Amino acid sequence: MRRIGVLTSGGDAPGMNACIRAVVRCGVWEKLEVVGIRRGYAGLLEGDLVRLGSRSVANIIHRGGTFLETARCEEMKTAEGIEKATQVLRREDIEGLIVIGGDGTFRGAAAIAERGDTKVIGVPGTIDNDVYGTDYAIGFDTATNTALEAIDRIRDTAGSLQRPFFIEVMGKERGFIALYVGIAGGAEEILIPETETKIEELCLDIRRGLKRGKKSSIIIVAEGDEAGGVVQIAQQVWERLRLDYRICVLGHIQRGGSPTARDRVLASKLGAAAIDALVRGKSGYMVGELRGEIVLSPLRETWEKSKELDTDLVELVKILAA
Ligand code: F6P
Repeated sequence: MRRIGVLTSGGDAPGMNACIRAVVRCGVWEKLEVVGIRRGYAGLLEGDLVRLGSRSVANIIHRGGTFLETARCEEMKTAEGIEKATQVLRREDIEGLIVIGGDGTFRGAAAIAERGDTKVIGVPGTIDNDVYGTDYAIGFDTATNTALEAIDRIRDTAGSLQRPFFIEVMGKERGFIALYVGIAGGAEEILIPETETKIEELCLDIRRGLKRGKKSSIIIVAEGDEAGGVVQIAQQVWERLRLDYRICVLGHIQRGGSPTARDRVLASKLGAAAIDALVRGKSGYMVGELRGEIVLSPLRETWEKSKELDTDLVELVKILAA
């Protein structure tokens, strides 16, 4: 293998830059020519490439976002898009491709790998952490710490004005962020798609808390909770309890910012592992870290299998909120 490409796709995640840096520098170490593909698959389809050397990735390890930029590309969901991507890779002599993103990104990657012309390795990068085959995806640790900082601040005002606060965190399909920040932030309740949200029970819990002398409560809602958005849930609680409440949607704040040490280390390890996999001739796999070990999982498994979330922790939150 002589020339490889790297791209970031889907939602950006803090640590993606650290991963690109590792891919480029480990690639150079292996005497590979590395090209960056701008704006994910959208840039690939347009042939928007840039040659990357060791100096091109200087001073990016601490930066959030992705300096290659990213995109959500509808065309890559079509057979024509895959065909076009394969042709560009062939035309540009790109023999290996490393894609950093989430399960949507890996669907396109798997389709390219199946064509057989280009070897493809995926690296999990999504704050949602909803990818099977790795304990943590790049960006999750930073996002949870960012959300936690915000929740700590909200707690100050919630306590002072004695109000319940409904805080929405990201996670369009899974509740990993909500669960982690709920535990770490000492929340009273965590509402996630993995467990059924019962409004009556939630109201009962809030009422019981008031009886125990609680003056405020922090209710974390994952954006993908099946009971609806945070506004809808808060309204339903108000209809039953008539308690003055406030809502805070943390939104994209969670996606930005300088990556934590943990995310930078994970990104560096996975970037290096992706190059190693390509050099060993592997294709159609995602590199992940499970219990501290680097593991290769077939790309298909990353969306066909569901990553387990420890729902017992939701119960623990209730005990700890005594
Ligand atoms: O996939 C990560 C994520 O941050 C989700 O949690 C969220 O629903 C989505 O991206 C938001 O995407 P966009 O920035 O395209 O609105």
